[in-house]
Amino acid sequence: MNKVFVTRPIPQSALGRLRREATVEVWPGPQPPPYQELRRHVAPCDGLLCLLTDRVDAELIASAPRLRVISQMAVGYDNIDVAAATARGIPVGHTPGVLTEATADLTWALILATARRVLDGVRFIEAGRWTTWDPMGLLGLELHGATLGIVGLGRIGAAVARRAAGFGMRLLYTGPREKPAVAAGVGATYADFETLLRESDVVSIHCPLTPATRHLFDARAFALMKPGAILINTARGGIVDHKALLDAVRDGHLGGAGLDVTEPEPLPADHPLMAQERVLITPHIGSATVRTRTRMAEMAVANLLAGLRGEPLPHCVNPEVYTG
Ligand code: DGY
Repeated sequence: MNKVFVTRPIPQSALGRLRREATVEVWPGPQPPPYQELRRHVAPCDGLLCLLTDRVDAELIASAPRLRVISQMAVGYDNIDVAAATARGIPVGHTPGVLTEATADLTWALILATARRVLDGVRFIEAGRWTTWDPMGLLGLELHGATLGIVGLGRIGAAVARRAAGFGMRLLYTGPREKPAVAAGVGATYADFETLLRESDVVSIHCPLTPATRHLFDARAFALMKPGAILINTARGGIVDHKALLDAVRDGHLGGAGLDVTEPEPLPADHPLMAQERVLITPHIGSATVRTRTRMAEMAVANLLAGLRGEPLPHCVNPEVYTG
């Protein structure tokens, strides 16, 4: 039987299906395997089911001579050296689509909570400071009539845009190219990156982390944003320069930030962003619903099993392995 390493416990229904077709070793801990352990466990395997917390680099791939398929239980795969996998002819799978709605919901939770200062309000009560109704207290950003700027109108960006209709917001989007059909469907208008920053009250990030998007949000980008605007990131922490974000929040230029992703993850407890009143941080829970995580695991297993059988992966990030 093929040998497979799964880097963390995943939903049982998916694991059961995998166990019927392969000899499966699951890393038991709640923490990811340390890199050297990961390498050691993958070395004799035919298949790897990994998570965004696992560094699957060229060295790891080279030290696993039997490896025939890598299946990531996430839509993002910036933790995997896809070029190295492709060079070995190893298909890499991921889980697009199934987490779109859950991630869009969480994005809106952050937009609403950050704009309306929900966490500030809770902290205010916990600090025993709620003594009266205050006409000037905890004033936030009104979303109705405001402009939402979406960076990356892919599946998740479009699902976030669709939800904006109920809030009566103007919608802008940016990205490497215009997407007229998707944009028409959600009522969004294309703008270049700088125009989007200048005109948006809320900027929400939905692009992948690539060399081109690393620290796309730097001091210059924050300076272009409207005074009082808020930044939402449910994509990847590395797209934002956290030092520049901290400065922009500290000096009052930004109205706040809602982050489900940071760099690194977890952000150290003493990181100054953690203590900022206007910054709300959640621990990368965009896809964290029972239904979505179950579907992600099932999709990752389907990709893995296809790869072990020598069939094309249903969701492959490097389909060129089949053609060239
Ligand atoms: C992904 O899938 O890339 C998310 O960040 C985690 O679900």
